Amino acid sequence: MNPAALQLHVKADLDRLLPLLDSHFAGRFKGGEAAKLAGAIRHSLEAGGKRVRPVLCLLAAESTGASPECALNGAVALEFIHTYSLIHDDLPAMDDDDLRRGKPTCHVVFGEAHAILAGDGLQAEAFNIMAEDGSVAPSLRIEAISLLAEASGWKGMVGGQALDLEGEALASYGLDHLKTIHRLKTGALIRASLEIGAVLAGAEPTQREALREAGSALGLAFQIQDDILDATSDGATLGKRAGKDVGRGKITYPALLGLDGARRALVEATEKALWHLQSLPKPASLATWARYLAVRNT
Ligand code: IPE
Ligand code: IPE
Ligand code: MG
Ligand code: MG
Ligand code: MG
Repeated sequence: MNPAALQLHVKADLDRLLPLLDSHFAGRFKGGEAAKLAGAIRHSLEAGGKRVRPVLCLLAAESTGASPECALNGAVALEFIHTYSLIHDDLPAMDDDDLRRGKPTCHVVFGEAHAILAGDGLQAEAFNIMAEDGSVAPSLRIEAISLLAEASGWKGMVGGQALDLEGEALASYGLDHLKTIHRLKTGALIRASLEIGAVLAGAEPTQREALREAGSALGLAFQIQDDILDATSDGATLGKRAGKDVGRGKITYPALLGLDGARRALVEATEKALWHLQSLPKPASLATWARYLAVRNT
């Protein structure tokens, strides 16, 4: 399938899945005493974003033969965690960015303290929305919550962010260490997106394992493409600043392997994800997304 055909399929999935997600977002951060904080959260959440992690979670559930609705609360929780990670990633103490999802970053509009708190609020709400999902058996709910905690915590995304920032001060390091950073800072949450979809769908252990492995490969592929786009695209296209990685002295796939080498690694990781998806009952949509994510330009 060429990129235009992939884009059409992806649009069709978004058309059917985004209304489900949006109906769960709407109203979640309205009311309450802390109105400015709620505004800061909505600013980042409603700015858009590709919604990759929630869509992958819903498609993972679907790939096992279940309906996507059973994974809805998990999908929303993943987007809350992801949005929180972006708000914090953009802070002056981290990547110091002023543009995100086509808008000024949360701290630029609301101040650093409110941006930190907006991230904290989103994180807590992510676990809340999973805990309160009465349509899922308590044992599956707890398993999914635990997966999200591990993937987003110090042994997952947060750990990767720490290594990424520590890496800015290092003169050099090799591909193995870079892979570790990417596996943690981005891969862990994408892997969890597929695995949580499997758990909430009550998938068989072999299906869950296939989705976990596919998610792991897809997570690496996703960050390799993020590195490539940072080196080759522009702010207007991405909705976030480009060229930042070199500017901050970050080591990336293009920095270590060159653009061609990075693209080869991207294809390899994507093929690995596709291979693991084959055994599932209904892998078509997820496979299309895996292919699309490797050629995306935002
Ligand atoms: C950007 O993620 C940060 C990474 C983990 C690479 P996305 O590219 O999914 O950002 P949004 O959600 O579309 O804004
Ligand atoms: C961000 O990686 C990873 C997380 C937010 C966890 P990047 O720093 O490369 O993401 P962008 O390029 O700012 O979106
Ligand atoms: Mg970063
Ligand atoms: Mg960043
Ligand atoms: Mg980046």
